Amino acid sequence: MRTSWLWSVAALVLVATGPATGADIFEQNRRLGRGVNILGYDPIWRDRTRARFQERHFRLIREAGFQTVRINLHPFRHMSPDPDRALRPEWWATLNWAVSNAAASGLNVILDLHEFNAIGEDPEGHKDRFLAFWRQIAARSWPDTVCFELLNEPCKKLTPALWNQWLREALAIVRQQHPQRPVIIGPAFWNSVDHLEELDLPADDRHIIVTVHYYKPMAFTHQGASWTGQQDKVGIDWRGTAEEVNAIRQDFDKVADWSRKHQRPVFLGEFGAYDRAPLEARVRYIRTVAREAEARGWSWAYWQFDGDFIVWDMQRDQWVRPILEALLPSAP
Ligand code: BGC
Repeated sequence: MRTSWLWSVAALVLVATGPATGADIFEQNRRLGRGVNILGYDPIWRDRTRARFQERHFRLIREAGFQTVRINLHPFRHMSPDPDRALRPEWWATLNWAVSNAAASGLNVILDLHEFNAIGEDPEGHKDRFLAFWRQIAARSWPDTVCFELLNEPCKKLTPALWNQWLREALAIVRQQHPQRPVIIGPAFWNSVDHLEELDLPADDRHIIVTVHYYKPMAFTHQGASWTGQQDKVGIDWRGTAEEVNAIRQDFDKVADWSRKHQRPVFLGEFGAYDRAPLEARVRYIRTVAREAEARGWSWAYWQFDGDFIVWDMQRDQWVRPILEALLPSAP
C-alpha cells in the first residue's frame, strides 16, 4: 500500500464524510449522495503527460457540491500476459493518484470495472482477467470511503444466469479482505431497470448496494450517438410532459419496489443525455431524473464529467452551468 501524507489528510477529512465501513448499508449509500463519472476515457491512463483531468478538478467537483466520483476503469490493456495478469506499475500510480486526490478533496470513490464490452463479447476469454482484477484490487488497503463496483453494465454473452455466478466468485474474492466494504452490483442487460428481477445476490451479504443505469427513452438520450446506431437521428425533444415524466416515475417505482422487497439500497450509477440533444431538453430531462432518484432516497452519479455528455467543458475550462445546475440546484 502506498502511504503518504495525502492518505492521512484524507483519512481525517473522510471520517466525517465518507461511507465508513461498518455503518448500515442504506446510510452508506445515502452518503454517496450525488456523484459524477470520471476518467473513463481520459488519455491519462496511457500517458500521464497527456491527461485532460488534473488534480484541481477533484477540488472543483467537491466545491460544486458533488460527494462522490465513480472512476471508470479499463485495466485489461494494462495487464501482463502472464497468468497472474499483474497490472503495470504505471497504472497503479495513476489509480493511486486519483484515489488519494479524490480522498483529500473529501470525495467518496467508486472503483468501477468498466470492461463490459470485452467481457460481453467473450466472457470465458476474459474471466481470468476479471477475477485477477478483483484479486489485485482486494489485496490492497483502501480508505473506508472507497467502494468497489464489480462490473459496469454486464451485457451480451454475459447473460443474467452467467452474471449471477460471476458476481458470486468476484464477491468471494473481495470479501476475504474486505468483509464489510460496500460493493456495488447491478443487473445484466446493461444494468437495465427492466432486468432487476433476474439479479440474484447472496442473501447473507448485507453490504451490497444495487445499481441501475437510466437512459430511457434512448431515442432522446442517445440521439446522434454513433455507438447506438443513432448518428442521423437528431432533433428529438423532451419537454417534461406528464406522460414523459410518468414513464420515468413508473420505471423508478418498479426499482423502488424491488429495493424494498429485497432490502437493498439503490445507486443510479449512470444517467444523462448525449450532447447532440437540444440543451434545454437535456436540462429538463437531467433535472427530472436526478430529482426522481433523490425522491426515492437513491444516490446517483451523472454520466459524465468530460469527453461527451459533458458537465465540465475542458476547452473553456469551466462548468456547463445549465447541466451543473440541473444536477445540483444549489451549486455555488
Ligand atoms: C459507456 C460509454 C457510453 C455511455 C452512454 C457508458 O457506460 O462506457 O461509452 O458513452 O455508457 O452510452
